[in-house]
Amino acid sequence: MFQESASLAAWKAKSFEFSGQGLLRFSYNHFAVHTVKAIYPGSFDPVTNGHLDLIARGAKMFDHLVVAILRNSTKAPLFTEAERVEMLTEGVRGFGNVSVATFHGLLVDFAREQKANAVLRGIRAISDYEYEFQMALMNRRLAPEVETIFLMPDAKYSFVSSRLIKQVFELGGSVDGLVPDFVVERLKQRVPHL
Ligand code: PNS
Repeated sequence: MFQESASLAAWKAKSFEFSGQGLLRFSYNHFAVHTVKAIYPGSFDPVTNGHLDLIARGAKMFDHLVVAILRNSTKAPLFTEAERVEMLTEGVRGFGNVSVATFHGLLVDFAREQKANAVLRGIRAISDYEYEFQMALMNRRLAPEVETIFLMPDAKYSFVSSRLIKQVFELGGSVDGLVPDFVVERLKQRVPHL
């Protein structure tokens, strides 16, 4: 039976004291501290309150969370890369352990470049699952050391997607409460005839 010494107990207590919001893992055999850095990738065209809900959950779980905007997507975005960075930077203000970046090419290459060990994705409904499952397993094949972690946003955002936000707004419907106010302002600038 492993008997914990007083000095080990004191060291662990001190380490937990400094762990902040992140998850620190302790290996009792090696006394190693393992930090978790996650990438939250997406198009974010534009960021929604569902995305921000997921970021808040991820910020509590991971030591560091990098929100990564895909550049050069085959989808023609409504907002430029710079606009999406500005909106997300505004959205994550207040989270000390969340940063915003852009990437192109393979997500797993970006994850390795960032020395990240996890990818965060949101699952809103069963309909998301098949695509997410395929991506997660392909990413695992490409980079087995990177784990994909799925979280659910609050149920009140389960129907919210960037695609529907753009469509509803362009057709004159209200998206208040589903995206931050600064996104509504950007949408008004981008779709000025409404
Ligand atoms: O917000 P989205 O559009 O659902 O995000 C999709 C994204 C950016 C996560 C995905 O398209 C992606 O990771 N693209 C990078 C290219 C890549 O790595 N493809 C292989 C993944 S299986």
